[in-house]
Amino acid sequence: MLPGSSRPPAAPVLELRGIRFGWPGAGPALKGCDLLIPRPGLWMLVGRNGSGKSSLLRLIAGLVQPEAGSIDHRARCALVFQNPDHQLLLPSCGSELLLAIDPGLKQQEREHRLQSALAQVGLAGLAERPIHTLSGGQKQRLAIAASLASDSELLLLDEPTALLDPESQREVLALIRALTQRPDQPLTALWITHRLEELQQCDGAALMRDGQVGPWRTGAELIASLTSP
Ligand SMILES: Nc1ncnc2c1ncn2[C@@H]1O[C@H](COP(=O)(O)OP(=O)(O)OP(=O)(O)O)[C@@H](O)[C@H]1O
Ligand SMILES: [Mg+2]
Repeated sequence: MLPGSSRPPAAPVLELRGIRFGWPGAGPALKGCDLLIPRPGLWMLVGRNGSGKSSLLRLIAGLVQPEAGSIDHRARCALVFQNPDHQLLLPSCGSELLLAIDPGLKQQEREHRLQSALAQVGLAGLAERPIHTLSGGQKQRLAIAASLASDSELLLLDEPTALLDPESQREVLALIRALTQRPDQPLTALWITHRLEELQQCDGAALMRDGQVGPWRTGAELIASLTSP
């Protein structure tokens, strides 16, 4: 129980313990990896190429299974990739979002979800717009809208700004920041980046090295440790 509180502490959003995993034909990518996300917010991972960041997100998303260890989360999760062209499949914004929405919902609720998801990412009114006419930043925001439409609470973002210009980069980061701070059902975002300046915006930052995640630190602390001679 927290001091002065009558409520028990909330369970962590995500907890990984002792994860071991290797891709077929390759050496181990994750080597006894632990990770605990204590609460909703914007959590960032950095690490050298090949340190296991993308493999970790794929395990959390359930696309591959660990050889050992446990992954514990109750949240529905969605992956957002570096290149939105790799995940947007349909011709128009609206049809793309409908694909993400639970088909069991009533038509009216599906339409509401679609419009709400577009509005939350700043694409209101673009349901009919062909996806190929969107800018890179708009496509990335549409990919995030699809996560919202699918009712995901844990967003796994793998270098989502790597292909964007500085303005779109700031927009996408600000959008995710706002979604993780919204008073009603704040989301949890696990965000991988090579852009150190993005760490300034996070609630916690950790370094991934050789298949393991280090402790959470503030973004400023991690930047300082990575840039000090
Ligand atoms: N689909 C795959 N098949 C075989 N090996 C893979 C596959 N994906 C990743 N690997 C290997 O797993 C290890 C970890 O790669 P991973 O992509 O997780 O690293 P990363 O930290 O995301 O790197 P980067 O910063 O370059 O994106 C690497 O040795 C890589 O070659
Ligand atoms: Mg990667």
